[in-house]
Amino acid sequence: MSNPLPVLLDVDTGGDDALALLLAMASPALDVRGITCVAGNCALAQAVRNTLTLLDAIDAPPVPVAAGMDRPILGSGLPAPALHGGDGMGDLGLPAPRRKSVDDHAVEFLRRTLSETAEPITLICLAPLSNIAMLLRMYPGIREKIERLYVMGGTYASPGNTTPAGEFNVCYDPEAAAIVLQSGLPVTLYPLDPFMQVRFTKEEAMRFSSTASAGARIAGGIALHYCRFFGYSFSLIGDAGTVATVIDPEGATVERSSMLVELSGGATRGATVFDRRIVTDGFEREGNWTDVDVVTNVDADRYRRLMAGALGAPEALTDQA
Ligand code: BDR
Ligand code: CA
Repeated sequence: MSNPLPVLLDVDTGGDDALALLLAMASPALDVRGITCVAGNCALAQAVRNTLTLLDAIDAPPVPVAAGMDRPILGSGLPAPALHGGDGMGDLGLPAPRRKSVDDHAVEFLRRTLSETAEPITLICLAPLSNIAMLLRMYPGIREKIERLYVMGGTYASPGNTTPAGEFNVCYDPEAAAIVLQSGLPVTLYPLDPFMQVRFTKEEAMRFSSTASAGARIAGGIALHYCRFFGYSFSLIGDAGTVATVIDPEGATVERSSMLVELSGGATRGATVFDRRIVTDGFEREGNWTDVDVVTNVDADRYRRLMAGALGAPEALTDQA
């Protein structure tokens, strides 16, 4: 077996960020070197608290957690979406965290961690890109220490979830998304299209909730919260699918495509625009179009099983979701 891949996660925990953290912390394929938090699903302080509480609950090793940007680069951001609950993580009633975050700002923590390692590190970004954009702007030389960015954000062919054309992480901080996605660094984008594909049924969530594994109980509780909120009989694994793509790339269909983030516009601000035209000869285009690798489709059952195995409860799954 090859050495675990060194990764840093950037999160706004966040019910589905919590699922992503559970998968990342449990996977022998990943070496989680740190977790940075940013405002998005909830206020920054709540995202930090949720992250620390989650790590306590699964008795995780002392991975550093750093608080970063409490707002987007421009403006004050979007209201916290009600779907994640009053605490941003499904209102599970978990106790206050025992562990503490590091003193460094997330941007400084990222700079230090990246500059101190010999080998480049993979960034897994599951939230508005404010921290990562600031890092690239303040310390452009750090680019050479970034192996690749896996980014949950945007849409490819699907509709938006925050505006008709826009996805939450990009809409929350469009300027940051433009800086990061159009940086020219190797990017694998995990947009809403695959995000919507991987799910657990309500029955599976109930079985997770009653297992001996702390991680599975939390994942089950979060999934049941989303089932209740939407009134659906299933719940998405959401951000955790991005982590699954890093761990098991064979489960993802990836296309290279040219894109940009729409920063002007009214209805379309924060949309990820892909140039999917068949014929482009003779048609000019304006803007800083950049090639990224887009996950257009995933093997949903494979990733469901990966997740359930990491939670220590593979028997909770039925054949279909
Ligand atoms: C993204 O926005 C947040 O609500 C989720 O955590 C995910 O990162 C989906 O649009
Ligand atoms: Ca998120």
